[in-house]
Amino acid sequence: MTALTRNGDPVGFTASSFASVSLEPPLVLVCPANSLSSIEVFQECKNFAVSVLAEEQQDIANIFASFSGDRFAQVKWQADGAGCPLIKNAVAWFSCTAHARVPAGDHQILIGHVDDYQAHGHAGLGYSRGGYFSLGLERQAAELPGNKRPVNVGAIIEHDDQVLMEETSRGLRLPQTTTAGSENALTSLRHYLGATGLHPEVGPVYSIFRSRRTGIYSTYYRCITDTTDTGGLGRYIPIDDLPKQKFANRALAVMLHRHALEHHSGAFGPDVAHEDCDVHVIDGDEH
Ligand SMILES: Cc1cc2nc3c(=O)[nH]c(=O)nc-3n(C[C@H](O)[C@H](O)[C@H](O)COP(=O)(O)O)c2cc1C
Repeated sequence: MTALTRNGDPVGFTASSFASVSLEPPLVLVCPANSLSSIEVFQECKNFAVSVLAEEQQDIANIFASFSGDRFAQVKWQADGAGCPLIKNAVAWFSCTAHARVPAGDHQILIGHVDDYQAHGHAGLGYSRGGYFSLGLERQAAELPGNKRPVNVGAIIEHDDQVLMEETSRGLRLPQTTTAGSENALTSLRHYLGATGLHPEVGPVYSIFRSRRTGIYSTYYRCITDTTDTGGLGRYIPIDDLPKQKFANRALAVMLHRHALEHHSGAFGPDVAHEDCDVHVIDGDEH
């Protein structure tokens, strides 16, 4: 969410509290916290803009949530008709006139009249349970059974800074199963975990990739459990120790190295494929 100070300097912060309110007239809302460094601007601005970030713009979400220097020097943007910054390559833009302000606890509800908007139809960046996720990846995972072959579907089950891993003769692997018939990946995963007695909270898709050798797709979901029960699936390994482990295949090694790094930085994100490839293609066997 962005606006201009009285001096014309841009201000902005990352917000997940964006929602549509009314179609006629077109109204949206965002809730700036009273603690924001820019709260005075949002309390009095006549105009503001909302840029809906794309799935690969997680860095920009982080800059506007925590960077304390000039945030706008870090990103590409352009001004809307009122001069408010619009983040380049965002999925959608809304240029708003402030319509109403409602004090609400430690936030303000700022309702804006949408004067102008643009939507580009790309996948947006999601945020849930303290981590970013990709709406595009969730959709891809749901559509995977459309492929003729079964899909590997696995779980990164986290408990107290540890991940549940199975030992195999080739190294560690994550608990995983394959889809059966027309069942989608998520349903197969729930059945598989349910049969072991484990009922972790299944979160967002963490990664999807296709083996170059076999053409088989694999998809992994982040899961959280509050028990130390392993359901007979292996043992918990501290996430910080993951980079030292031997994994059953390269794809797992790449994914779990990334997981350990992101766990360390506290910023989990989806494995968003870039350019024209829909998913990552990994050399080597994924079994
Ligand atoms: C995903 C995400 C969603 C957020 N949503 C909001 C929000 O809706 N309202 C808000 O005031 N702050 C929200 N924040 C926190 C602000 O982005 C953060 O406190 C702010 O950028 C700090 O800006 P400041 O340093 O200028 O005070 C969110 C942060 C993240 C990472």
